[in-house]
Amino acid sequence: MKQALPKAGTVQIAPSILSADFANLASEIKLVVSSGIEIIHLDVMDGHFVPNITIGPPVVQGIRKCTRAVLDTHLMITDPGTYAERFIEAGSDHITFHIETVDRPAEFIQYLRRLGVTVGVTLNPETPAEAIRDICPLCDMVLVMTVHPGFGGQSFIDEAARKCVRIRSWVGPEVRIEVDGGIDTKTAPIVVRYGADTLVAGNAIFGQPDRKAAIQAIRDALA
Ligand code: DX5
Ligand code: ZN
Repeated sequence: MKQALPKAGTVQIAPSILSADFANLASEIKLVVSSGIEIIHLDVMDGHFVPNITIGPPVVQGIRKCTRAVLDTHLMITDPGTYAERFIEAGSDHITFHIETVDRPAEFIQYLRRLGVTVGVTLNPETPAEAIRDICPLCDMVLVMTVHPGFGGQSFIDEAARKCVRIRSWVGPEVRIEVDGGIDTKTAPIVVRYGADTLVAGNAIFGQPDRKAAIQAIRDALA
């Protein structure tokens, strides 16, 4: 049974495990979930679409065993058509693919839905918002990259984040808008003002000694 995304409208923080302690993933995930986190962001990188390699289906299988949180799987890979199903079988609840990697995105979205997951499209900072204009209303969540994908701990690109304003006008209130990269206590209020309601944070949480306090600091910044 797949976990559904929380209804749009509530602001959700989605910790990215990219910055977590990979020697203790289960306890890291349990810790953030004990702070009321409902979505865990999994950064999948293939060393081709982005200059880094991270995790594959076996790791998702392991993570699935330790949490009921929504496994929000961000595919930074050149061939999501081949691999998406394996992530879904491994336990992914939500699949986000890069518009730069799929020729017929509307068909791909239908294919993913038939596999029982919620679906998202994402775009790199240099990709104009128009590239997803027709596609984003078909999605459950749209991910706006606010750094160049590949690494955690990079600086927030405000110009990229501003795409949220127009995307919100295209999708309305029911579709989640997720932002990813450089989100912390300073940038979180900015992106929510732009229309985002799902905030991926890696370094701002797992780069801090006290994860719970780091999550609370972001929540306080949004209050
Ligand atoms: C970057 C990933 C992001 C990254 C965010 O390619 O897609 O999810 O982990 O990390 P921070 O929050 O550290 O910028
Ligand atoms: Zn990501």
